[in-house]
Amino acid sequence: MPDRRTLESAVALACRAPSLHNSQPWRWVLGAHALTLYSDNDRILPATDPSGRQMVLSCGTALDHLRTALAAQRWSSAIERMPRSPDRQCLATLRFRRLDESSDTEPSDTGARLAAAIARRRTERLPMAAPPEWPSTVTLLQELAEDAGAHLDGIGEDERAALDDVSRRISGEKRADPAYLSELNWWTGHAMFPEGVPADTLPAAGSAVAVEREFPPGRATSETSGEQDHAAILLLSTATDRRLDWLRCGEALSAVLLACTDRGLATCTVTHLTESEDSRAFLRGLTGDGVPQVLIRAGVRTPPGPETPTPRRPLSEVLFREHPESDSR
Ligand SMILES: Cc1cc2nc3c(=O)[nH]c(=O)nc-3n(C[C@H](O)[C@H](O)[C@H](O)COP(=O)(O)O)c2cc1C
Repeated sequence: MPDRRTLESAVALACRAPSLHNSQPWRWVLGAHALTLYSDNDRILPATDPSGRQMVLSCGTALDHLRTALAAQRWSSAIERMPRSPDRQCLATLRFRRLDESSDTEPSDTGARLAAAIARRRTERLPMAAPPEWPSTVTLLQELAEDAGAHLDGIGEDERAALDDVSRRISGEKRADPAYLSELNWWTGHAMFPEGVPADTLPAAGSAVAVEREFPPGRATSETSGEQDHAAILLLSTATDRRLDWLRCGEALSAVLLACTDRGLATCTVTHLTESEDSRAFLRGLTGDGVPQVLIRAGVRTPPGPETPTPRRPLSEVLFREHPESDSR
């Protein structure tokens, strides 16, 4: 096992992963020979995410962040997903192997760069400029998604107007749903709690992007506020819609976001259009097969916005020891 300091710093980096409304619905338990990831079902958002799909997806992003953080420290992770366990919240068990100094599997520059991208990545909700060199980037992102067990499609510019229309319609429906709204208001727009989405990261009135989820107006503005968004739009889908698909799709989401960050691109995860069968059917119509799970906007943020990261819960609330009394390392 990696020593305690290495594991703690890797788990802290893993918890920089994105999650629905920054709910951080994960719990890590450190045993003598393995680290186990559980979902924290107290952090499910029942009105937005009744099945817990996005909760498991969020945990998948943390799982891939953890693997990436440890790989950069020369540890490879063997991951058992959905292990046999009486606890339904148990999502994955990780066992580690030290990479030999001389082995040809030593971490590449890319591995170190991806780990460094974890701390730089932010969800950017303002309009973006178009990403440069997009065709070669998309090919790389598609390979990363396939490796993680998901499928990535680009949504064409000619579909954008229809996508914006559906987004506005869905936002209108959600505005009329009191349970959804009270959940949204509970989780978003407040000061710097260690969870939830701070107002500083939410678009000010008139700055929002049509394809985005509608949030209460915040304080974020930029030179592009109110302008048309030129971000590329990607859709992550899975073959089926089981908990394992959600977890793996979260891992794919993490891989795609970190690769974009590494290439200097801003990203935004968007999921309100995957929360009803109606809008999921619309998305499926754009890309063909597969179950739509997550949209991603990727582009260039102009000019660079504030670098303050969205807060996270302290490690003491998310990392536990199986046998605390026996751990004196
Ligand atoms: C499953 C999932 C769904 C999300 N849905 C949205 C969304 O619909 N709109 C949005 O702006 N951000 C969305 N996010 C991004 C989170 O709000 C964001 O990760 C969180 O606030 C933490 O901020 P950070 O990503 O800047 O660290 C989602 C993230 C995940 C993992």
